[in-house]
Amino acid sequence: MKTLMEIIKARKSIRAYQDKPLPKKVVKDILEAAKYAPTARNLQQLEYKVITNKDLINKLSAGIAAALQKEGMPLKGPPGAKPDFFHGAPLLIIIIAPKDNHFGLSDSALAVQNVMLYTTSIDLGSCFIGMARLIEKDKDLLKMINIADNMSIVAAVICGYPAEDPASREKKQTAEYFG
Ligand SMILES: Cc1cc2nc3c(=O)[nH]c(=O)nc-3n(C[C@H](O)[C@H](O)[C@H](O)COP(=O)(O)O)c2cc1C
Repeated sequence: MKTLMEIIKARKSIRAYQDKPLPKKVVKDILEAAKYAPTARNLQQLEYKVITNKDLINKLSAGIAAALQKEGMPLKGPPGAKPDFFHGAPLLIIIIAPKDNHFGLSDSALAVQNVMLYTTSIDLGSCFIGMARLIEKDKDLLKMINIADNMSIVAAVICGYPAEDPASREKKQTAEYFG
């Protein structure tokens, strides 16, 4: 069994996935990992949209592309090709929080880290998808995944069986010690 430090160091963003759904029990355990993250003032106001439907994932990705194009931002990849912001993952978890919860972003980042560490521990891949926040630009997409007007997308994470094994990215740190 890997130590927690080994799992922390083994985690890396995976951006290619096998075309294979995750068992329901695994999805449940991933959500369980997210649930145990701390939240500011213990408000526990995060809500999870657990999406495994490929068509829906593709629609959400297209919504992000449209939002970027509307803002005149360049799309990565060959011209004309549809960008896939969710990298072909079989599971997309979108996290929402009330707009008036000022710690929604922090709470969700901790939940995503729990998900990423847990998935690493069971040899699954994962990646934080900050771009998913752009889904908010399309009211129809928000309706499609039942996001109420008072809620905001604060984070998203994808998970699945990896189809790549990239080298770990170099990690830097600036720390000043006051002994
Ligand atoms: C807040 C945040 C937002 C991110 N958004 C995206 C994203 O939209 N798409 C993506 O492919 N990766 C995204 N990433 C992954 C980072 O690019 C990745 O963590 C970074 O390059 C370091 O690589 P590592 O995760 O393998 O250590 C995001 C990471 C963080 C922490």
